[in-house]
Order: sequence, then C-alpha cells, then structure tokens
Amino acid sequence: MFQCCWGYIDEIDYNQAIYFSCRILPLTSIVKSSRNKIFSTRFNLTFGICRVLFRFIYPGFKEKLVMRKLLSGLSFMAAILLMPLLNAQTARLSIDASKSGAKIDRNLFGQFAENLGHGLYEGIWVGPDSPIPNTRGIRKDVVAALRELKVPNVRWPGGCFADEYHWRKGVGPAAGRPATLNSTWGGVIDTNAFGTDEFMDFIQQIGSQPYLATNVASGTPQEAAEWLEYMTAAAPTALEKERAANGHPEPYKIGMMGIGNESWSCGGDMTVDYYLSQLKIYSHFVRNMNPAQQEKNQMLKIAVGPGFPETEWTEAVMKAWQHHDWSWNFDGLSVHWYTTPGGWPLSEPSTNFGVNDYDKTLKSTLFMDDFLRKQEEVMDRYDPQKKVALVVDEWGGWYAALPGTNKDFLLQQNSLRDAILASLNLNIFARHADRVRGANIAQMINVIQSMILTDKEKMVVTPTYYVFKMYVPFQDATFIPVDFDPGSYHHDGITLPRVDAIAAKDANGKLWLEITNLDPEKPLSIDAEIAGLTAKAAKGETLTAPAVDSINTFAVPSAVVPKPITASVKDGKLTLTVEPKSVTVLSLE
Ligand code: AHR
Repeated sequence: MFQCCWGYIDEIDYNQAIYFSCRILPLTSIVKSSRNKIFSTRFNLTFGICRVLFRFIYPGFKEKLVMRKLLSGLSFMAAILLMPLLNAQTARLSIDASKSGAKIDRNLFGQFAENLGHGLYEGIWVGPDSPIPNTRGIRKDVVAALRELKVPNVRWPGGCFADEYHWRKGVGPAAGRPATLNSTWGGVIDTNAFGTDEFMDFIQQIGSQPYLATNVASGTPQEAAEWLEYMTAAAPTALEKERAANGHPEPYKIGMMGIGNESWSCGGDMTVDYYLSQLKIYSHFVRNMNPAQQEKNQMLKIAVGPGFPETEWTEAVMKAWQHHDWSWNFDGLSVHWYTTPGGWPLSEPSTNFGVNDYDKTLKSTLFMDDFLRKQEEVMDRYDPQKKVALVVDEWGGWYAALPGTNKDFLLQQNSLRDAILASLNLNIFARHADRVRGANIAQMINVIQSMILTDKEKMVVTPTYYVFKMYVPFQDATFIPVDFDPGSYHHDGITLPRVDAIAAKDANGKLWLEITNLDPEKPLSIDAEIAGLTAKAAKGETLTAPAVDSINTFAVPSAVVPKPITASVKDGKLTLTVEPKSVTVLSLE
C-alpha cells in the first residue's frame, strides 16, 4: 500500500521517497527489483492503478497533502528504525606499539574453586564410578572446557572454608576418609572424597598451578607445615612416604600459598596485630620442600589483605613487611572486592533484569579501579619497588541465589552483563599490572560468577567463560598504553563511560587490542591510530547478544557466543564498528 501511494507525490518528492524507501525499508519488492528492469514496469503499473483507484473512490482526494503526511510518517518510522545506526558514536584510540608498560601477569586470569555448593562436588568431582565421563573421578567435559582457558592457577579449598579445612581428612583410600560437615556453606555432609591428591590431579589435568589457602583460624602452624611436607617433600620423610603410598611419588609444585583467608572476618575475626603474629609464624614454618622450587620458581606466599576500601589493614601489614627480617616474608597481599549492586543482603537477580540493573552493576564494578588505587598508594609508601604483589584473589559479580536453590550454595546465572563486567575488571587489572600480579574470579564452577554451570551430566559454558577465552593472548603479554576518550552515556540518572580498551604485545610481537562497548543500545565506530607497527588487517572475535540479560542455558547453550570479526587497517588506521554491549578482541596482522 505504501509503495503504491508513493506514486502520488510530485516528481521531486517521488524521487526522494523512492530513494529513501529503497535504502530503509525491507519491504522489498522495490528494493529487490530496483536492480532490474522489472522495477520500472511493476512500479509504473502499481502507481497507475493506485492513482485511478483513489480518484475513483474519493474524487476530492488531496494528493499532495496526503502524500506529504504519509511521507513524514514514514520518515519518522525510518528514523526510529535507523536510530541505533544514526547514533553510532566514534571513539578515537591512539596506540603506539613501541611504548610498553608492565607485564600482564598470567596469574591475573586465575580461578577460585572453594568447597562450596556444587563448585567441587558435581562441578569437578563425580567419582570414578559415575556414569558421567570422568578421569579418576574428575569430569572430562569440565576439564576439556577449562584447558581452553589456560587457567594459570586455581585457589583452593577456600574462601571461608579454608579456615575449617583439615587436610588429613582428605588423603588416603577413599573408604577410610571421614564424613565431616561443611559448616561454612550450608552444613552439608562433606565426604572428603575430593582431597589434596584429587585437587592436584585436577590441576594437572587442566594444566594449571595450585594456589592453596592454609587454615590459620582453626588449624595450627604444625598442621599447615605437615600439609606442605606431604605435598612437596622429596626426601624420604614419613609424610613423603605416605604421599608415595597414596600413588604420588613425585613432589607436587605449589605456585602460591595463601596464609589465611579474610582473617578479619570468617577467617578468625582477628585484629591486624594478631594476624601479623600468625603470619610471621606461618611464613617461617610452613615450607615448600620441593627441590625444584628452592632457587627458581619459588612458591609465592600471600598474606591476607582487606576486603573493604579502608586502608588501615594494608597500612599495618605493609609497615610490618617493611621491617621484616630473614625469618619471615611474603610476596603478595590479597584483597577481595566483589560487585554487589544493591549491597547486602544480596537482592540483585542474575536473570530477567533490565538495562537499569545493567547500568547499576557496571557503575558498581568500576569502583575496582579506585579500590586498587587506594591500596596501591599505601603499598607504594612502604614498597616503592613494588616487590609485593597485590592479588585480587576474590572478585566478580555476586547476586541473589537463583530462586528455589540452597542460598548457601551461591548458585547464580551468568549473563552478557557478566561478560562486560569481566572485561572491565580484567582491563582494570591490566592497567594496574605493575602492582596487581594476581587475581582469581569467584568462582570457577556453579558458584557466583562462574565459567561453567553443570547439572548432573549436563554442562554449559557461560558468557564469562568466553571472555576469559578471548583474553588468553593477554596472559603474560606486555601492556601497551591506549590513549582514548572514554566518552559517556547517560541512562536514568547513571552515567557510564561508553568505551574501554586495552592493548598488549605478546611474546611473538603480535599486537592485541580489546574494546568494550558498554553502551547497551548504541554501536560504536572505532578509529584507532596505530604507530610503531605495520599492520594490514585485524581479526578476532566479538561477544554480544540480543539483551543485557541474555544467558546460555543447558537447552540453549549458544545464546551468547563469540563470533568472528575483521577490521581494515589502512595507513596505520584501524576502523571498525563494535556492537552495543560487546567485548571485542582483535590481533593486528
Ligand atoms: O566466595 C565466597 C566467599 O566470599 C568466600 O568464601 C569468602 O572468602 C568471601 O567472603
């Protein structure tokens, strides 16, 4: 009908209208036929019939007036349809590949697997007799998915659970292991079937490194020292023989050891002075005995730091560190910072939310930058050479538990919002890479912001998983500064940057660029000036989905998956358009 009626406008308007309609409307007998002769024949015929019909039915028909109104109506509709494209903003980035910053430590991409809910049991461990395909009790599907992420380290067994864990209950023949209660997380029975040797098996299967958290609050230095001896002794001590008898003659390598967890809260509610006295004892007596880790590849000892923006705890621990002697030391200070939009008790849903919740969540997550800066300022005063690493060993978007699930199991869905949140945090860590040399997202499977969700034999990977996969090239790459104006978008009283970006050079000299478009509605044109490197093209992947709350489910596992993207690079200028609410990683070729 519209096509037909356009025939009534005068000659100039008619040409404009046809041009307009061909460009904007998918109605498209016109569009399709405009490429051949059928067009003029068909159009003229329709045009003529309409004209005769209207004159016959309604002799007083004001052709021009009606047609102008129709045209303005159509223009309005077209403007609405084209709004996102018309509104595409441009972000100008400038990258000089000859400049370089700190190494983006691969340990920034660490994971956290606490004995909590279905994180370990069912998520990783199904037991050797399970019908779910497994290797020595460990799920094959989960291992295969995690191998893709090149997980640098896994923190275990907690979290708060670490301070109630007694390692002896989790070694030796399965039948002899006592059932205990997981009092921290729901008071459920813990069979202790997944103990130290099973964890180490899992670590080896996924090709990672262990990051152990020792029990400082309800354990003793002796218990922790013996745990380390069991794992790392090469000389024939009783514990070395016990490990060998359990099937593991070779000592394990331990990447990192945390001395306590949140000792100011669930880890013993200690004052900082009390914690420092424990830290000194554990740091001295809990030794890694593996001969391969004495000179090189030493185990890093991580002290407890704050989980709040105030800096008194950091001040006291760093001041003590500045005066440490030969008998004690630590290599990193742990901090915990979660994104909890709406605060405590957790009320923010992880599914079926809207753009307001998305904005609120991203606003909240960007506080990570300030949080780190404040801690770093204190650390810089006591350690200007940045010997002590800041290790964000718990972070992520933490929302209300899924309705109908055990609240203590911290099970939540994972949406496109979490993918954007993950990229923003990883970018913040990369920008702080001179001090922030470790981070562990909470948590790996079925808990908080996870990589993987499982339900019996089913498994699905989350949008956050894909972000970690896309960021693999940034592991151990050299940070390259990106100059850009982040711009801003405003929505319902919240203002957020429109764009975020980082760049890095990998060991082969290849330049990688990440661009996050935070705007949930508008695409973004990118103009990136690249100096210090000759490139002809760029290619990579982009991750987005129809809605901010789009999720992958067992029934629809591919709602949020990355797709390939290419961009042109001409005369040192890369141009591309990134979709709304998207994460894009490109390499320059
Ligand atoms: O990740 C869940 C819990 O959050 C951890 O057990 C604890 O360390 C933190 O408070």
